[in-house]
Amino acid sequence: MAEKPDVRFTQLFIDNQWQDSASGKTFPTFNPATGEQIARIAEGDKADVDAAVNAATKAFSLNSPWRKMDASERGRLLNKLADLIERDREYLTRLEVLDSGKIYREASEDLTDTISCYQYYAGFADKLHGKTIPVDGDYFTYTRHEPVGIVGQIIAWNYPLAIQSVKLAPALCCGNCVILKPAEQTPLTALYVASLIAEAGFPPGVVSVIPGYGPTAGAAISEHMEIDKVAFTGSTEVGKLIQQAAGRSNLKNVSLELGGKSPNIVFSDVNLDYAVGVCVDAVFVNQGQCCSAGSRTYVQDTIYDDFVRKSVQLALRRKLGNPMSPDTDQGPQIDREQFDKILGLIESGKDEGASLECGGKRFGETGFFIEPTVFSQVKDHMRIAREEIFGPVMQIIKFHDVQEVIDRANDTTYGLAAGVLTNDIGTALTVANSFRAGSVWVNCYNAGGSSAPFGGYKMSGIGREYGEDGLRQYYEVKTVTIKVDEKNS
Ligand code: NAI
Ligand code: MG
Repeated sequence: MAEKPDVRFTQLFIDNQWQDSASGKTFPTFNPATGEQIARIAEGDKADVDAAVNAATKAFSLNSPWRKMDASERGRLLNKLADLIERDREYLTRLEVLDSGKIYREASEDLTDTISCYQYYAGFADKLHGKTIPVDGDYFTYTRHEPVGIVGQIIAWNYPLAIQSVKLAPALCCGNCVILKPAEQTPLTALYVASLIAEAGFPPGVVSVIPGYGPTAGAAISEHMEIDKVAFTGSTEVGKLIQQAAGRSNLKNVSLELGGKSPNIVFSDVNLDYAVGVCVDAVFVNQGQCCSAGSRTYVQDTIYDDFVRKSVQLALRRKLGNPMSPDTDQGPQIDREQFDKILGLIESGKDEGASLECGGKRFGETGFFIEPTVFSQVKDHMRIAREEIFGPVMQIIKFHDVQEVIDRANDTTYGLAAGVLTNDIGTALTVANSFRAGSVWVNCYNAGGSSAPFGGYKMSGIGREYGEDGLRQYYEVKTVTIKVDEKNS
């Protein structure tokens, strides 16, 4: 296959048809490694969201093929979709690299995660059921799990295929109809998967994919009176707007997967080289563009200097360059906005007195590359220790004892993830139980898979994705109560 994949789909996908936007407008998508335009994409807006809602309303009507479909058949369709993604995984991997600037190796891991997510929820379709409940009196009471209805999904650019899978798979498993808006930076793989959804045999109107911008297409979804639920992945700032829009419109159910500033705590009893490797990966994976990035590395004072020195060595060893090359470790940031935000936060770190150990600048002349950057002597009050940087920037912070570091680690508005590295089981459990965060990793980081729930405490989000818990936001519980013997009453 040629290094650069060809782009096959650039229109909106509504009612299993490809179409231009109602306005006729298009927008460009760029290769972050070169800054070059890849293609122009149909730009969806309110009229297109309305068209998708109309198609979904038909698809969701009582007695439609989708509503009458056996649960096991929904599972088969999801498995078929997983198989088609597997068939085209090499193409999809390259398309993802081209549009997002991810490195090939990590995009390939995303494909594995994406396929496994569709398969995981495929298996759940006919295993999701209610209860019979022993209420008082002469009644027979049972619950049914029913789809919520029409679901809007607004997603981010950092893991385009994987986020799309954890949005679509549980929603379709439960029998909902979906209108999905990919991030404006990364529409290409979402549209290709739409073509596979039609090929797999999902009925028209069950899934629509509408590329476009947030304040237009995204807002049209979050404010829509006929959309029953919205699921969002992105910034905390926009998460608030989504929830406000739900409140202003029809009180649609909202689930949010937002940012983080996750602590990763290293005690002095660890194998130092192993711990440094885990902590460096926890920050630098995906160019640092990871909501769960372990971006506050707390290191116990007795090993602090050695830890900093070894972290710098590993950071400097990272190879930056063409994300398509198999030996590249770090690609470009997604776009100019993120690039500028990260460089601005690096400047704030220097201004506030943190010590820049390596990096700190742009790498190369084209694309949005930033050198792997390590700060030591970071203090809790500094912006680099409080704000989500979403870039290849490591903050190493000193601590002395367990209780102190727990309090400092939890002193954040976020609560997505946290890590602890120690060989003392008591310390590991004490710290793991004390974190106010949705995912905790002990002696590892970012480990898990489709079966493990993921989501945030505090301002990192609402609801969980993945695992059985990830289904909860996609079904309503209906309680049916029947009088057993109406003649005796
Ligand atoms: P964003 O939150 O603006 O974008 C995410 C999605 O929301 C995109 O599809 C966008 O089109 C849509 N959107 C934007 N404004 C909207 C609105 N008013 N109504 C409805 N939808 C809207 O995130 P952005 O600007 O790409 O990144 C900003 C920061 O957010 C990053 O630096 C990072 O800190 C954080 N972020 C966190 C992510 C995570 O994984 N939780 C993913 C992406 C960004
Ligand atoms: Mg934004």
